[in-house]
Amino acid sequence: MEIDVLGIESSCDETAASVYSSTSGVLSNVLFSSAKMQSEFGGVVPELASRSHLEKINLVVQTALNEAKTSLNEIDVIAVTTKPGLPGSLLIGLCFAKTIAWALNKKLIGVNHLEGHAFSSFLENNIPFPHLCLTASGGHTNMYLMHDFGKYEIIGQTIDDAAGEAFDKIAKFINLTYPGGPVIEKLASEVNFEDFFKYPRPMQNLNIESPLNFSFSGLKTAVLYDLVKQNAFDIENKKFLRPNDLELQKKVASSLLVCIRDIFIQKIKLALKKYPHIKSVSFVGGVACNKYLKNQLKEFCENKNIQFFSPSPQYCTDNAAMIAFVGCYKAMQGKFDNLELDIF
Ligand code: KG4
Ligand code: ZN
Repeated sequence: MEIDVLGIESSCDETAASVYSSTSGVLSNVLFSSAKMQSEFGGVVPELASRSHLEKINLVVQTALNEAKTSLNEIDVIAVTTKPGLPGSLLIGLCFAKTIAWALNKKLIGVNHLEGHAFSSFLENNIPFPHLCLTASGGHTNMYLMHDFGKYEIIGQTIDDAAGEAFDKIAKFINLTYPGGPVIEKLASEVNFEDFFKYPRPMQNLNIESPLNFSFSGLKTAVLYDLVKQNAFDIENKKFLRPNDLELQKKVASSLLVCIRDIFIQKIKLALKKYPHIKSVSFVGGVACNKYLKNQLKEFCENKNIQFFSPSPQYCTDNAAMIAFVGCYKAMQGKFDNLELDIF
């Protein structure tokens, strides 16, 4: 029996809706981002994000239904992100989903945003279990051992900053625009991804308690102190002193990207050693938009005869297709929620 799911995502600054069919896959994937509006503040302002969701959610959902050539009447299940995220933003999506479910007597399913990311590669591929997934975004850096749909465990996570946060914060140090990841990739490619400054690779000591965990806060500090040493940063006034030195910006960007590549590869290597039955690896989340990282991780895995997957960019960054997909397998497993569903 075919199940049609309407997915709704509003955990951060993207208002997104998607229709996913259990038999035909993604029928539509629509998104409005308030990131541009927020970029002048150097990051997401929760109040602005919530207001933007409220303004756009009707249009985004209606467009997703139109593009899928369907209507609410034909939808079987409403899947909505309930955590983690900005409370004010999550509540807009959840209230919207609950209202539809109540008014039209539809099934309702709450989805964890990170479970959505972890299964985002499955939108485009048949992936064998057991599977290792590295999720890297602006808010999270996690490694999951995935046994089956809805059955997974966290085997590593950041103990401080997320990988995307490292790109964003270091970009800010050297006067680059937010979000930092894309501009850092561009600048690094212009100097052929060379490692100029050899920043320290943290958490490499295998004797530490949780060697699969990540830490990016020390890397941020190391870059900062290296800039101070080069007389390029005034730490007291928090000011980059060489705003017109494109060469320096490129060298920092490239050294940082190579360092993060090494950290990711080292953690995957360790996980594959600890769990030798792993059949496939995926790299997901906003940071997986990075083609250099994607290619390097792919090469590493394929050299070890492990299948590697990474979603197209539209499914790496926040989207509702991944939420609808998780909603779909939960529906098949009979895991429904009631109208008491909350964001915690
Ligand atoms: O998944 P996402 O869109 O939102 C969150 O849930 O955080 O991820 C955003 C993060 C930002 O930190 C951004 O700098 C990073 O993904 N990012 C990249 C690239 N594109 C986006 N990082 C590295 N290279 C990229 N090309
Ligand atoms: Zn996300």
